[in-house]
Amino acid sequence: MSHQTVIVLDFGGQYNQLIARRVRECGVYCEVKPYTTPLEELKRMEPIGIIFTGGPNSVYLETSPKVDPEIFTWGVPILGICYGCQLMAHLLGGQVTEAQDDSAREYGKTLTYFDNGCRLFQGLPQQGVTWMSHGDYMAKVPAGFTLAAKSDACPNVAIADEARGFYGVQFHPEVNHTENGLAMLRNFLYEVCGATGDWTMEDYLKTSVAAIREKVGNGRVLLALSGGVDSSVCAALLAEAVGEQLTCVFVDHGLMRKNEGDEVEAAFSKWAMNFIRVDAEARFLEKLAGVTEPERKRKIIGEEFIRVFEEESKKIGSVDFLAQGTIYPDVIESGAGDAAVIKSHHNVGGLPDYVDFKEIVEPLRLLFKDEVRQLGRELGLPEYLVMRQPFPGPGLAIRVIGDLTKEKLDVLRDADAIYREEIAAAGEDRNISQYFAVLTNTRSVGVMGDGRTYDYTLALRAVTTSDFMTADWARIPYDLLDKISTRIVNEVKGINRIVYDITSKPPATIEWE
Ligand code: XMP
Repeated sequence: MSHQTVIVLDFGGQYNQLIARRVRECGVYCEVKPYTTPLEELKRMEPIGIIFTGGPNSVYLETSPKVDPEIFTWGVPILGICYGCQLMAHLLGGQVTEAQDDSAREYGKTLTYFDNGCRLFQGLPQQGVTWMSHGDYMAKVPAGFTLAAKSDACPNVAIADEARGFYGVQFHPEVNHTENGLAMLRNFLYEVCGATGDWTMEDYLKTSVAAIREKVGNGRVLLALSGGVDSSVCAALLAEAVGEQLTCVFVDHGLMRKNEGDEVEAAFSKWAMNFIRVDAEARFLEKLAGVTEPERKRKIIGEEFIRVFEEESKKIGSVDFLAQGTIYPDVIESGAGDAAVIKSHHNVGGLPDYVDFKEIVEPLRLLFKDEVRQLGRELGLPEYLVMRQPFPGPGLAIRVIGDLTKEKLDVLRDADAIYREEIAAAGEDRNISQYFAVLTNTRSVGVMGDGRTYDYTLALRAVTTSDFMTADWARIPYDLLDKISTRIVNEVKGINRIVYDITSKPPATIEWE
């Protein structure tokens, strides 16, 4: 695969992945590398440009992350953002100090004035809001640089050495708060680095199919398909590349949402591959009978899942490759020197070490989540699979509070389906990160027609979040909640009361168990 590449050199800033995603949105392939990556390795990647990220440190400290100054001599354009800008200034003979006076520190939205003669800002408005977050001050700009943007408090918000293609900005062009930030990155990529925009999902699909064919040869590939976005796209891509050499094992644990198992199966019917759907509902429910403690539920489901997958893979016999739907955010090492990010703390399965295989194949390793979705569309997967919200591995087992029965699961499935249908019909799904119904263990008295009822209370949960580590409850319009509530109590037997969860995370979690 030979795409033009940009390197995002990571100094530990909180927006490192966002920068990379923005670059790719501009149609340019890029990779995030820790700042400690040897220069030789960076050179071998033959980048058309490099972006230094922000970082939590001050450049003048002994212990701050630095780069080999030789990086400035190989003729590759560099854009320094925030810490990256100050580092460039510092290493090229400028002077960066702690801002003595509060007015030189800038945080948040700042009105900024641009020199449109600078290639970074050409064709853009002369002034606009930028997002700042710096306590240090560039007291002296390095030789060869000119000032390219200023704010009321600071004369050197951006610096430029047009001849060498070096640019530094104190603000964050990658965040949405910076007006025209994406256009500035685009200018750097296209006007300065000479990008041609050769990173498209259509091309990626072609090159990646070819690469998989080359790697896999005549070998056999095994994949555990959960029906989530990553494993589904991974399955479709492999099916497209090696067809019948692929076997997908889809363990249906009976804890999925309404019609989900059938939908997943239907989505893959167009490929000639071996699709094995294991109906394991009975054995999962048997193992879970009477279990009320959430972590026990998780453990039982995780173990049982492995057991089922193991049994199936024994039937299949030895395979050459085990496929995994690992995506780029799981792979990126942080510039701050942390260990690689570990996949979701509570995923079902993990790497099955009992399956007989020779090598792992991870065809989504280079892609961000939004790119995985795009690739899925390119492969012709239906929108409901590609746009699926996150769904926990243990499924509805952790959304029926307390002990589980098939009856309770069915009640929840029906109610949840109505909830999702109405949210989507109102177009609210675009504003909500995750939403689902929970069957609480509480029963209460109600009245329906002329009769008394004593039925379950259903809770509706909907949150907005960018990382699922913290979340806010979604402000769903009352009228819509009213419609959902009326429909559920009328259409689903067993529920006579509905509550809406108005706690954020923390202190609550997104799921109830
Ligand atoms: P919490 O409830 O911890 O959820 O705020 C954060 C995100 O993780 C999902 N989640 C899980 N995913 N296995 C999973 O694969 C699990 O056991 C699990 N528990 C929670 C949850 O749906 C939310 O997106």
